[in-house]
Amino acid sequence: MAAKIALKYTLLALAATSAAAGPTTPKASTSKAAASSSAAAPVTTPTAAYPNNYPWKNQYPPLFDKTGAWAVPPIDSTQAKEWIALVNMSAVPNAPVIKWDKNGNPIDPYPAGQNPYCDWSLDGVCTRPGDVVVCPQKGVWGLTFDDGPTPFGSQLYDWMGTQNLKATLFYIGLQVAQNPQVAQKGCAAGHQIAIHTWSHHVLTSLTNEQIIVELKWTETIIKEVCGVTPKYFRPPQGDYDDRVRSIASQLGYTAILWDLDTNDWMFGSPGNTLTPAQVDGNFTKWIGEESNDTHGHICLEHELSQQSVDSAKQNLPKLAKAYNIMPVASCIGDAHPYKESDISFPVIGTDGKLTSTNTSTSASPSNATASATDSGAGPTSNPTVSAAGAAGASSSLVVSATTTPSAGSRTYLSETLFAIAVAMAVTMAL
Ligand SMILES: *[C@@H]1O[C@H](CO)[C@@H](O)[C@H](O)[C@H]1NC(C)=O
Ligand SMILES: *[C@@H]1O[C@H](CO)[C@@H](O)[C@H](O)[C@H]1NC(C)=O
Ligand SMILES: *[C@@H]1O[C@H](CO)[C@@H](O)[C@H](O)[C@H]1NC(C)=O
Ligand SMILES: *[C@@H]1O[C@H](CO)[C@@H](O)[C@H](O)[C@H]1NC(C)=O
Ligand SMILES: *[C@@H]1O[C@H](CO)[C@@H](O)[C@H](O)[C@H]1NC(C)=O
Repeated sequence: MAAKIALKYTLLALAATSAAAGPTTPKASTSKAAASSSAAAPVTTPTAAYPNNYPWKNQYPPLFDKTGAWAVPPIDSTQAKEWIALVNMSAVPNAPVIKWDKNGNPIDPYPAGQNPYCDWSLDGVCTRPGDVVVCPQKGVWGLTFDDGPTPFGSQLYDWMGTQNLKATLFYIGLQVAQNPQVAQKGCAAGHQIAIHTWSHHVLTSLTNEQIIVELKWTETIIKEVCGVTPKYFRPPQGDYDDRVRSIASQLGYTAILWDLDTNDWMFGSPGNTLTPAQVDGNFTKWIGEESNDTHGHICLEHELSQQSVDSAKQNLPKLAKAYNIMPVASCIGDAHPYKESDISFPVIGTDGKLTSTNTSTSASPSNATASATDSGAGPTSNPTVSAAGAAGASSSLVVSATTTPSAGSRTYLSETLFAIAVAMAVTMAL
């Protein structure tokens, strides 16, 4: 059974200067864990120009192709070749590149249900051991928002701050390029940042080389803007197979999928049929079902529109009475969702409490961002070290590990805030 695949038109305000074109009618959902959203990029005035609202250090690929759609990065640059060389292509399963029709549905090269490569979109949301699909512990809710950073996300992060909620934010490289200040806000707030590819194309439709550059450019821009290197990614629409799995795993990434879907990506999209009441109804159902659950959940939400943000605001306070809400890293017990091993997230214990596994050795406990009893998880922070590190990094805006003393935890939060202040000052001076 094919998962629901629908073209989603991203409606992002900053980039989209002209209306998104080409309505499509999403197919009805056939699965609780249906694939989400979004193959098509917004149609905008075609330009190869890079947004200059940030003092970029790296040179990134062109944002748009000739049609104005979000562009897959080229694979022939020097940088691309270096990344491609990291992957042992002989070890990558020889699964076919999947063609997708113009309605955004994959064309199965095998008889129905017989694709041997565990294709999420073609084989009924197929997953392998090692893929993260649920929070294992009953009563725990992995909160995730896709497709940011967006201006709507900025408002969402403010609101989550008032609720002491932390989420996993799956960032699109092209969105970071266009909304770097929002990205910094999300990072600074202590959310777990993960990769949602550069241009949000379905990965099974891309070549091995294209998949590599999609992941690595996103990693690079997140590192430049936030100073962290995510170890987790979410394939757009959940679409991936053993070929994508092998490439991602060789590059050190683990996939995070979901088992519950709000379908909130539809809000604001052409031909939308979703109502806020339907999303509320699903949350009410999930809250009611908790008592019978044997495991926790990872739920798919988006920061793509005012309605999706409003829907989160409406439902998460009620959900928080039934579930312990946290980023995915915390619910799966990974204190280190970034390659920077000195940044640590609190993880859930068997008692359901979040515990920081790596408290700072040099900061006073009252200066820590996340206490063991916080309902919202956040990375361990050490403001004292942070200020020193950030000052050293002020010219590049990137907080590198070398600016941090080896003893004691990284002062992640304050560093990032400092970097934002510097970024704003630089921007205003320009
Ligand atoms: C690449 O993968 C193949 C197939 O798994 C394996 O035989 C080979 O040793 C690998 N090469 C390297 C350099 O790891
Ligand atoms: C859940 O949302 C779907 C649309 O995504 C809707 O069809 C369904 O009726 C909703 N369920 C409830 C219980 O409201
Ligand atoms: C829980 O499971 C029992 C037994 O299957 C069922 O009778 C009951 O309706 C379920 N409750 C909820 C809230 O789903
Ligand atoms: C946090 O540390 C700074 C010095 O780095 C200090 O000025 C401030 O009072 C501390 N805050 C608390 C709440 O201890
Ligand atoms: C704790 O942080 C240090 C760096 O300050 C790091 O080297 C170490 O791996 C971390 N340990 C744990 C258990 O998180």
